[in-house]
Amino acid sequence: MSQEIPTNAAVAELIAEHAQIQKVVAGLALLETRVTSGEGADPALLRRILEFLREYADRLHHGKEESFFFLALERRGVPATGCPVGALLGEHKRGRALVAEFAEGIEAYAAGTEGASEGLAATMRGLTELYPAHIWKEDYLLFPMSEKVLREEDLAELIAQFKTVDLAIGDAAIARAEALATELAGIVAQS
Ligand SMILES: [Fe+2]
Ligand SMILES: [Fe+2]
Repeated sequence: MSQEIPTNAAVAELIAEHAQIQKVVAGLALLETRVTSGEGADPALLRRILEFLREYADRLHHGKEESFFFLALERRGVPATGCPVGALLGEHKRGRALVAEFAEGIEAYAAGTEGASEGLAATMRGLTELYPAHIWKEDYLLFPMSEKVLREEDLAELIAQFKTVDLAIGDAAIARAEALATELAGIVAQS
């Protein structure tokens, strides 16, 4: 896609994280077809995706959005409820519920529980539908809108605040997440 997305440094950071999440979600979509077809997916790989969704997509990325980015928008008059922030927060919540379901689904699948494949595949489809639609709304609606309301000083503050989230998660966890995204992109490319 070649549409222009506005890129101040704070927004560029969130967009770059979206790209990593999209790679993992594309891998998850491929693995869902393998679970559904009976070809199967490695539970160890599914557990690594689970860790990515918890630590990188939720704790790091949604953490930056919820703890800082959305609040900066609210300070500049964007309503905290309704469209767009309230709707996006609702999707983060839905994502967390699906991730919790995914954790249970993986273990049932790994244990060979009857009906586990169907349940796991349904949860994986839920995740692969939710994330791209959510990211699209942020990339093409929220971020362009944020360019209109955020000021220079807000953006500088956001960069510093995002850094604190990166530090809390740690370089090793971030590197692990990015390596998984690259690995899954390779698997998708070969499929
Ligand atoms: Fe979000
Ligand atoms: Fe996001």
